[in-house]
Amino acid sequence: MAAFAEFFAGIGLVREAIEPLGWRCVFANDIAPGKAEMYRTRFGFRHFVVDDVNNLTVDQLPADIDLVTASFPCIDLSLAGNRAGLAGEHSGTVWPFLKLLAARCRCAAAPAAVLLENVTGFLSSRGGKDLAEVCRFLAKLGYAIDLAVVDARWFTPQSRPRLFAMAVRREDAASRWPLSAGAPSRVRPRRVRDFQQANPGLPFVELPLPEPPSRAPNRLSSILEDLSADDERWWPDEQTKVLLHNMAPRHRQRVAGLLDGQRDGVATLYRRRRHDRTVGEVRDDEIAGCLRTPQGGSSVQFLVDCRGGKPRIRPLTGREYARLQGAEQFPIHVGDRQARMGFGDAVCVPAVRWLTEHAFGHVLGTIAWQDPQMALFEQAPAHAAGG
Ligand SMILES: C[S@@+](CC[C@H](N)C(=O)[O-])C[C@H]1O[C@@H](n2cnc3c(N)ncnc32)[C@H](O)[C@@H]1O
Repeated sequence: MAAFAEFFAGIGLVREAIEPLGWRCVFANDIAPGKAEMYRTRFGFRHFVVDDVNNLTVDQLPADIDLVTASFPCIDLSLAGNRAGLAGEHSGTVWPFLKLLAARCRCAAAPAAVLLENVTGFLSSRGGKDLAEVCRFLAKLGYAIDLAVVDARWFTPQSRPRLFAMAVRREDAASRWPLSAGAPSRVRPRRVRDFQQANPGLPFVELPLPEPPSRAPNRLSSILEDLSADDERWWPDEQTKVLLHNMAPRHRQRVAGLLDGQRDGVATLYRRRRHDRTVGEVRDDEIAGCLRTPQGGSSVQFLVDCRGGKPRIRPLTGREYARLQGAEQFPIHVGDRQARMGFGDAVCVPAVRWLTEHAFGHVLGTIAWQDPQMALFEQAPAHAAGG
């Protein structure tokens, strides 16, 4: 069994995703005790170090590690944040992680693979310089890099596009996959290709990712809990009326559509402040918006439920958050607020499982190797990055 170490482990949804593939967790780290507690109820505390990544030292890492994962904080890279990029206090924690990896590569066998996950804003942060610096750092450690955008909506009813940087040893990559950058595709869309073209000196590789599913097998209505009509989480009628009254006409029309039975009679809603008023924005594409960590209240996602003939509103529950992240079986022994905190900035389990299975199957020896090399060479553009 191959071993992995997960940094920025949170509640452990990377582990949830990849353990069933045959990966064994030998180290986990996160700074947040509340998340660590949720992790512990699911996986136990063996190997988990609750500490600031800045404080970790290379001798804390176990001897054999084949894969290192890091879904580091997105605050400074997301549109909603301050766009400080990797100079920011939060997203900048990728640097102590990478320095630890570098120290590890110097004093022991380098892990065969590295997986970084963040928002797609990472591609454009500081005009692409942040991602280029990270890729250059990995390249100096001897890795070739593939980039993919994978959206949770292909697996669960949640819109959650995320950028994954997958690094593999260059000696492995050269013998298996061409170091190249090809045509845009669903997982490597135009903005990934643009980034690769803007950085032709970086050692890019194309790992054998197949075409992802076109959409999730289930709909928003299927992940909802059945709360009784007198559950106190439903908003009082008056509060619902005020929000509906303050809605922009097109959002009110969407609620009217729900009352007519469209979208199974349910949709999700975010509250936003507009001109000193709280307004509600309803989604009209039958899936939930991107889950976030509720800080300050405005990023809690709500359900608008019109199945009973009148609009009712409540926050999505912790269990519903878990389902939207594809973590149906995850035990939840904390309240809704802490659960939303944990699942809100976690990864989508089936998305990470799908990606890891195909990107790093060669480490486990599970990839059905069909020599895609020739096909990829045929697609490779003139500027194919230097290997
Ligand atoms: C995007 S979340 C990762 C979630 C995780 N992949 C999961 O599935 O739950 C980023 C994580 O980084 C952690 N974090 C933030 N600053 C940190 C630091 N200085 N050291 C270690 N972990 C940190 C946060 O507590 C949070 O859990």
